[in-house]
Amino acid sequence: MSQKLPAEVEARLAAHYQAIFTPEDASHDAAGLIAHAANCDGMLVTPADRLTQGVIEQLPETVRIIATFSVGYDHIDVAAAKRRGITVTNTPDVLTDATADIAMLLILGAARGAFWGERMVREQRWSRWAPTKPLGTHVTGKRLGILGMGRIGQAVARRARAFDMEIHYHNRTRLAYELENGAHFHSVLDHMLPHCDFLSINCASTPETRNAINAQTISLLPDGAIIVNTARGDIIDDDALIAALKSGKLAAAGLDVFRGEPNIDPRYRELGNVFLLPHLGSATLETRNAMGHRAVDNLDQFFRGERPRDILTN
Ligand code: DGY
Repeated sequence: MSQKLPAEVEARLAAHYQAIFTPEDASHDAAGLIAHAANCDGMLVTPADRLTQGVIEQLPETVRIIATFSVGYDHIDVAAAKRRGITVTNTPDVLTDATADIAMLLILGAARGAFWGERMVREQRWSRWAPTKPLGTHVTGKRLGILGMGRIGQAVARRARAFDMEIHYHNRTRLAYELENGAHFHSVLDHMLPHCDFLSINCASTPETRNAINAQTISLLPDGAIIVNTARGDIIDDDALIAALKSGKLAAAGLDVFRGEPNIDPRYRELGNVFLLPHLGSATLETRNAMGHRAVDNLDQFFRGERPRDILTN
């Protein structure tokens, strides 16, 4: 285990494996990850660990499976693992609702200024109620574009419908009619963007989606649009987003994920129109327990000689 895990997940691992745990305050760099894996048959890792090609090539021969405690697996060079005959698994499904809840929180929080409002109260800068300021942006009835209409994107759409939002989406493939539920499909991202008062990023980070939100794509959004990101930071070009937040092209943004997190671009901290969260998408005890059990289910299946349910190395 590269990181401390929820107590009930560690108890399950301790009961069934010769488990090597990691204390809460420990973290592993590349050399540490390799050393920690000494004599291990499997590794349970998280998005905080970078399993690059270099790391995977130096893992002990004994390692046969890497189970990540996450749905995203951009921190693992899956092709390198496959070349070494190492199985990789992830934890889909179980964090869909928690992550979609955070996307909705970001939509509401960014639009209504929850972060600056909270700060005003806390810092005793709230002097009186006034009709004209501070003001946010209305959410109900607005158009929401969803980039990536997988499980999480669809769960965001379900929540947004309760706010009477009109749903647009861009995805590699069009959803079946019953899953689409009235949402407007755009086969080309650029064609969807002019219809987005809000844009929610819910796609995986891949070579195709990295920097998909950049100066050119932002310019296609309506003036005053709001972007929220619960997927991965590198889907956004930070220079372009920060410039658009400064110029007023975008009214606000809500970000739960960042390129290079936790070392985020420091300019975000200076902006008054961005709602920042520390990658809380799946951060509920229920969800983290479920993610842990799903990762251990995959390990159990693998060591029983079965095909793990969430195998990524087909
Ligand atoms: C994941 O599982 O990929 C999430 O980003 C963790 O919250």
